[in-house]
Order: sequence, then structure tokens, then C-alpha cells
Amino acid sequence: MCGVVGYIGNKEAAPILIDGLQRLEYRGYDSAGIAVSCGGKVVFGKEVGRLANLERELEKNPIAGTRGIGHTRWATHGAPSQVNSHPHLSSDGAIAVVHNGIIENYAELRDELTGQGHKFLSETDTEVVPHLIEQALKDGAASSAEALRSALSRLRGAYALGVLFRDDPDTVYCARLGSPLIIGLGENENFIASDVPAIINRISEVIYLNDGEMAALRADGVEVSTIDGRIVTPEVKKIEFKAEDAEHAGFETFMLKEIHEQPRILRALLAKHVMADGTLELGTGLSPDYFRKLNRIMIVSCGTAYHAGMYGKLLLENLTGIAVETDLASEFRYRDPKIDPGTLIIPVSQSGETADTLASIRMAKSWGCKIFAICNVEGSSVVRESDATFFTNCGPEIGVASTKAYTAQQMAFALLALYIASVRGDLTPEKLKEYLKALREVPDAVHYVIQKKAEIQLIGEKHHDGPSSLYLGRRYNYPTALEGALKNKEISYQHAEGYAAGEMKHGPIALINESLPVICICTKTADEVYEKMLSNVKEVEARSGRIIAVVSEGDTELAKLTDDVIIVPAVRDEFSPMVNVAALQLLAYYAARARGTDIDKPRNLAKSVTVE
Ligand code: G6P
Repeated sequence: MCGVVGYIGNKEAAPILIDGLQRLEYRGYDSAGIAVSCGGKVVFGKEVGRLANLERELEKNPIAGTRGIGHTRWATHGAPSQVNSHPHLSSDGAIAVVHNGIIENYAELRDELTGQGHKFLSETDTEVVPHLIEQALKDGAASSAEALRSALSRLRGAYALGVLFRDDPDTVYCARLGSPLIIGLGENENFIASDVPAIINRISEVIYLNDGEMAALRADGVEVSTIDGRIVTPEVKKIEFKAEDAEHAGFETFMLKEIHEQPRILRALLAKHVMADGTLELGTGLSPDYFRKLNRIMIVSCGTAYHAGMYGKLLLENLTGIAVETDLASEFRYRDPKIDPGTLIIPVSQSGETADTLASIRMAKSWGCKIFAICNVEGSSVVRESDATFFTNCGPEIGVASTKAYTAQQMAFALLALYIASVRGDLTPEKLKEYLKALREVPDAVHYVIQKKAEIQLIGEKHHDGPSSLYLGRRYNYPTALEGALKNKEISYQHAEGYAAGEMKHGPIALINESLPVICICTKTADEVYEKMLSNVKEVEARSGRIIAVVSEGDTELAKLTDDVIIVPAVRDEFSPMVNVAALQLLAYYAARARGTDIDKPRNLAKSVTVE
């Protein structure tokens, strides 16, 4: 949801801002803009559509200056249009603001400011901010920082702000409440950004700004303070990943690259958490004793991470005997789920900034619950607000449709379930060994599936043209069916529905005809639902559905029913979803490619959903 960047130093700001926005474009891409201050003026450029449009405009009309702010937008208030694009300016053009988040009380502020003679040009919530700052200066604020503070004290909602003052020539300001913002520290230059990948090629140290903090950046230093004026000594952190991690690395898209990264990421997680003596270490600070006494877990998350949570629930309740529930964070926060303080809450989030997941964490904390996050981004809000975190360590995921973060979340749940089961004595050391042996086969099996991408491509291309498709799975692979359908919807824009195969007879069977592709996840080792799944596939066949089957090596039964078979290595059923989903990611990928969509930046979506 919207990306924010800022620069102050000795170099030309515009190319640095554009480069940062390119790396942030996955956060929003319906319009973009920059403002640069130089020679006693704030000059801005904004264009609707992709960043390339702004780049072309800036080639024709370059903007010079060594400090500035930039923004890539995912519209919330007001359609994508030039006038609604950021930066927004004060009436006198002396203050420019970029914003990620939502100012909830903007309507009342706007009325008040209009009464004071301010003229608004856009429909956005953001535009009140430069006007509020301008009004504070008119009302006698002694400095830009004081005017900014006064404006911030009036805002309700969430913001990551970058602010540029024409008349404060050596400073760029920023502030954060509820939306992510980092400060990158360079040599005689400093940066602001919504996340680390935006500026990873320029810095190696960052400050993760806390909620309720603002900062004044000069070329030679940064001063952080709370919004009410207390100076803060910020913690400076070294960045863990490399600039190349946020590049295409020769792949045609980030999504394809990220699909290919999965075996390596899964191997690394195993290497990190499985010790040489075959025991597991989570390294989270939660003691074995805590898990021994635990009797209820609640998993909350959104989107793909919700599907990972569904998988986690199945594994945890099966292996540990603990009662486990899972819910969509956007629903959980408005339920009355009767959670006692002894319940462990597991939020799952790639970005660590999803608004509903964060709200669920805060709610559960108010009930006294412990929070154990599964998250990919160090320094993110989810991590900071949780008691402990299992890091999925995927590096930046840039493709908007999540792939590597999903399989890493699944691996996190597998390791967590095995760990809890073994410390509680639900698993004997021998059984644990057996499970770990099976889990170690997963990265190679995923690699094997990825190697078969040319075959999967042919199937994807063959079935991409219909209006809809149905994904069926059972038990551990019911979440896989949902995730496969979600990938297809997200990137190919083909309607797709994931269903528990046993439920098919209660509705979706009415959809089946010769033109409906039905993707059946029907892998087996010893799974008792295999036979049931097979019957469901036969029911599809009897109604002439176009079956695409994901089956285990050596299974000849399903090959009789369809030509479109994706054969995957047979791994233990509990872990098969990590392998099977790789096939479905590729299937969606090649269907989308055949349909000619923008795979890394699908229409209307945003990578990090920081508003409700
Ligand atoms: C958005 C993204 C999805 C992601 C979901 C939850 O919808 O496009 O890929 O699964 O948000 O995000 P999170 O960062 O909390 O995992």
C-alpha cells in the first residue's frame, strides 16, 4: 500500500528517488510523484499510471536539487488521477508531503481548514497534512519541526510521512504511526523509505522508526524524537540481506525468481533449526516448559499467510494434541472469540505490516495473551509487537503474489509442530527422527517440481482461456487448493475457486462441464483421504470436467483419467503441501503468462496491505 522515499545529501535527488520508487513499486502502482527542493522552491512532478510515465515526464522536464521526497500510490481516498497523486502541497506551495496510511479524521480537519481559508485540490485524506502544517506556521509555530509536531498531534489514523519544507533548506522530515518507515544511513547522505529493499543498494545501516516518532534528516546526521518532542537515541541496525536479493537475477519476473528460490530457503530453514544431534531449536526465547503447559493456539493472518495458517492448524493439532484454531485477521478482530490469557496467538505475515493482523495482535495482547509471530521482515511492526518471532528468512519478496514466503511459512509450522510435539512428549525421539527425515526430502522434491516447469507450462497454456477454474483438495491439501486458486486469481485474473473436495457435491459440482478446468490435488503416500479424493476426481470425470491432476510419482490410477497430469515426488503426506503448491504456483504463472498479464504487479493488488 503506497511506497514512500526521501533523500537528502549532495547528489541529485530525483534519480535516487525514482530508483527507490522502482524498488517500491510493488507496494502500489496507480500513480507516482516526487517533490524536490532547490533554489528557494519546491518543484514537483506527478503522473498517473506506472512509474515509467513519471520517468518519461522527468526526462522531458528534469527537476534539479539535492533533497526530496517521492511516492508510489495505491489509491484509497480518490481515484488514481494526477491531482490525487502525491506529493500534496500547502496553499503557498512551500510544504510538500508524501503519505502511506489513512488519516481517519481528514473530513473534519478539511472542514476546519477550509473555514480558515485553505483550498483543497484533491479528494485525498493526505492533503490535510501540508495544510495543517502551514496553518501551524501561520499560528506562530517557531520552527518547521514544531509545526510538523503540531500537525501530527491533530491526526488520527495511520501514517508514514515524508515532509519537505521550502524554507528549511537543510532538512527532510519524516514521521511514523502505524505504517512502516525506515531511515537509511549513508555517508553524507540519508534516506527515508517504506522498506529496506527501496534503498538496499545505497546503505548498510538502518533505523527502524517506532510508532509515535519523527525524525529530522540532514545530510550529515539524523535526529529522532517522539512526536511530543522528547529526543530519542535510536537503535542502528545492520541490514541482513544483499542488494542482489532484491534484483531479478536473470529471471523474467520476480515471481519466477522467487518460485525458484524455494528449495534453497527451505534447506536453510532446516539447517538453522535442526541441530546436529537431531533435536530442534526454535531460538525464539519461548521455553519448552511454556509449550508443555500450553493447551490452546489461535492462528491469525490474511491472504496467502492465512492459507499457511490453515496448514499449520492441521499439523499442530495432529502432532501435538493442542486445540488449534485459525481465523482471518480481518474477521478475528471483530469477533468475540472467548480467548483466555493462556492461549498462544500465532500471527503469520510476510511483510509484518498487515493492518488486520496487527490489530488482532493488539487485541489479543489486551487480553493478556502471548504472541509468537511467524514473519519475514525484521524490524516490522508484527515482529516488534510480538513476544517472540520465528523468522522465515526468505529475503525480500517482491512479486505481489506470495510464493516463497508461503512455503517458508509452511516449513515454519512444520518445524514448530515437531518442536512442540517433541518437548511435550507427544513424539518419541525415534518418531521425531522419522518426521525430520521426511521433512528433509521436501526441498529436493520442490526443486524437482520446479525442474518440470516446461511440462507445467504446456498445461497452463492449454487451460488458460476459460472464464473459471476449480481447485480441489482434502485435508492437508485443502489449504493447497485454496492457495492454488488464489495464485490463479491474483495473477491471471481468471476466476478460480478452491474447495474441500468433499464439499464439491454440496454446490460446485453444478459448475462442472467440459469447459471447466478442475485442478485435483491427489497425491498419496499413506493418506487415508487419497481414496476419497480419487472418488471425487471420478465424479468430475463423470461430468466431463477438464481434469488437471497433481499426483505422486508411481500413481497410475489417475493417469487413466486425464492427459493433464503433473507428477510430483512422493513425500510424507503431512509435508506434501509444500511440494504440491510449487506445481500450482507454476500452473498459475504460465496461465497468467499466456493471458499476458503483469505478473509481478497484478491490477488492483498491493503487496503490503497497511489499511483495513
Ligand atoms: C496481500 C498480499 C498477499 C499476502 C497478504 C497478507 O494481500 O498481496 O500476498 O498474502 O497481503 O500479507 P502478509 O504480509 O501479512 O503476509
